[in-house]
Amino acid sequence: MSFLKYENNILKFEGVAISEIAKGRTTPFYCYSQNTLIDNFNKFANSVASFDSTVCFSLKSNSNLTLLKTLEKLGAGADVVSEWEMRKALKAGISAKNIVFSGIGKTDKDIQFAINNDCFQINVESIDELNRINEIAASIGKVQKIGIRINPDIKADTHKKISTGSLEDKFGVSIEDTHKIFQNRANYSSLKISSIAFHIGSNIKELNPFENTFSLIGDLAKKINSETSIIDTIDVGGGLSPQKRNFTFEEYAKLIHKYFDLEGIKFIFEPGRLISADAGILVSKVLYIKNITGKKFIIIDAGMNDMIRPALYDANHEVLPEINNDEFEEINTDIVGPICESSDVFINIKRFNKIKIGEYVVLKDVGAYGSTMSSNYNARPLIEELLISGSEITTIRKRQTFEDFISNEV
Ligand code: LLP
Repeated sequence: MSFLKYENNILKFEGVAISEIAKGRTTPFYCYSQNTLIDNFNKFANSVASFDSTVCFSLKSNSNLTLLKTLEKLGAGADVVSEWEMRKALKAGISAKNIVFSGIGKTDKDIQFAINNDCFQINVESIDELNRINEIAASIGKVQKIGIRINPDIKADTHKKISTGSLEDKFGVSIEDTHKIFQNRANYSSLKISSIAFHIGSNIKELNPFENTFSLIGDLAKKINSETSIIDTIDVGGGLSPQKRNFTFEEYAKLIHKYFDLEGIKFIFEPGRLISADAGILVSKVLYIKNITGKKFIIIDAGMNDMIRPALYDANHEVLPEINNDEFEEINTDIVGPICESSDVFINIKRFNKIKIGEYVVLKDVGAYGSTMSSNYNARPLIEELLISGSEITTIRKRQTFEDFISNEV
């Protein structure tokens, strides 16, 4: 069910008109639908409920504390990649028992924080890192549970900048090295190496790359466990696309049943975009309209610093006018932001509603990798974030002030 839709040609989010949400507020701003977030999480969690599992929401897609608190209440754990992500997860009430810490370049501080705070599992991406975590755990006097992140060398059908599962990508350890690490695990006296992890990429629409990976890693897990039953946890990562996916959650879950021995194994799922993407919109206002020969520019007040995905990955985020007036202009149109970069283009379209200065437009599906990837480029503030639940609208992150912005400069 979509909570963003036109009713009598007026665009509404959770039943409230965009102009109503924007009334008295400075644009641009993000707005998240609480009901979409809840629906998304529950649908996925229910489809994997037949496993002993934890759904660890990936904070890199969205780490707003209010959203995290909502997910925590539904039973979510967290997938984190930095000390601050882990601190946010803990602050939102997510138990360390349900937190996995990934990332290829963890610092000593990240590792110390994770171990000191009883992180369920640290996923390791190189032998050097394994040694370092062993040393740090020894110095703290704890034994840390470890997952070895495997690079299965499988190409996913996604943009090359968000593929992670091929040996050309920097992530993970090869199948051979993973096997060796398990054989030599007695060398790491402060680690409990008992898990394997993988994540082959993001925004994956086909089942095939998942099936190939499950098959490969399922075999490895069986081989390791036939030598010694050490693997107790399998972290299958995230990466499922929320849109235009050619498979259902049930088909995905069935493949896990098919390729893995489930006996005594806990599964970790790390979806990000699947849960948060369509829960978020970006509301922006038309500042100017400029016509040049054969081309039109609609200049809005959101920029690539607020939402970088179109500029960085050529991502396609639909732009909707607040009023669907059924009057269209057939002209090559760029909807652009104010940033001094030619790549600050949200979308190029051949036909768009007649729109006027001062009207609002909405960028769809920006709840994932929108706010978390935003910046202060061109000395623009980090923007407000709102939560909408029915007719209730709450500010869940204030717009940054000039004083906030310069506070760390001397
Ligand atoms: N687990 C690991 C280890 C990851 O690296 C990622 C994402 C996830 C889970 C969550 O993936 P998701 O379910 O959201 O696809 N900035 C890019 C996406 C980068 C994803 C990086 N890793 C974008 O805007 O498309």
